[in-house]
Amino acid sequence: MDMRSNNHGGHGTGKVALVGAGPGDPELLTLRAARRIAEADAIVYDQLVGEAILDLAKPSARLIYAGKKAGNHALPQDEINELLVDLARRGLNVVRLKGGDPFIFGRGGEEMQRLVACGIACEVVPGVTAAAGMAACTGIPLTHRDHAQTVVFATGHLKENTVDLDWTALARPHQTVVIYMGLGALEIICRELITHGLPGSTPAAVVHAATTPRQRIVTSTLAMLSADVRAAALKTPSLIVVGTVVDLHPVLMGHPGHEAVEPA
Ligand SMILES: C[S@@+](CC[C@H](N)C(=O)[O-])C[C@H]1O[C@@H](n2cnc3c(N)ncnc32)[C@H](O)[C@@H]1O
Repeated sequence: MDMRSNNHGGHGTGKVALVGAGPGDPELLTLRAARRIAEADAIVYDQLVGEAILDLAKPSARLIYAGKKAGNHALPQDEINELLVDLARRGLNVVRLKGGDPFIFGRGGEEMQRLVACGIACEVVPGVTAAAGMAACTGIPLTHRDHAQTVVFATGHLKENTVDLDWTALARPHQTVVIYMGLGALEIICRELITHGLPGSTPAAVVHAATTPRQRIVTSTLAMLSADVRAAALKTPSLIVVGTVVDLHPVLMGHPGHEAVEPA
């Protein structure tokens, strides 16, 4: 826990803003997010929130880390919920800062439920979700009239060593599938999508650290993606993208203006 000071905010119950920090590039923060961070007395932040974003905090703000570090576990969700309640009850103006958007695989809903149940004023500030940041920085549009009329965001988080997803729905044609937290289950995901009807030749990619200077992309096919990503040794945070929109990556990134959308 990094506490810059013990300075408390006002009197009475404070409030909590669940703020989306975006996918990594600090310039993708919204104006409202930047304002809430600058005004906060306490900021409870996750692993995927960049240092440059925390630099917007006032010097007296408490910075409380709630994410995972190598070899350590994250604070359990219940403890994070109670921490937010406790900070607000001390009269602090609290920001709960999360990677991407708080309501997309961010457990923002669970945190807000607890705050609402405790009668604490709560606001959500949306952020650019990782899939949108990735799309802009790789030239992979999530929808396109010639390729995909629907886009699906799914989590590939393993539960009891399996991924519990509606494979039939994910394997539909003319659709883009973006899978968050799926790297550990990449082989299972590709196999199930093929088993449920997508051709092994379907274009697919894994994008690591999208929008940051560490961004890397591996493009392949469903049949080969797992082996290609293993060879490239991509790690988390990464997104899996499946669909023919992946074929647009070399086309759109070959555009003379492409530097404008690549990470600084
Ligand atoms: C707990 S989820 C949080 C998602 C976040 N709320 C959002 O809207 O983007 C974390 C996962 O998001 C994905 N992710 C987040 N930032 C990313 C980035 N810059 N590049 C690629 N994947 C990212 C990875 O799959 C990572 O494991």
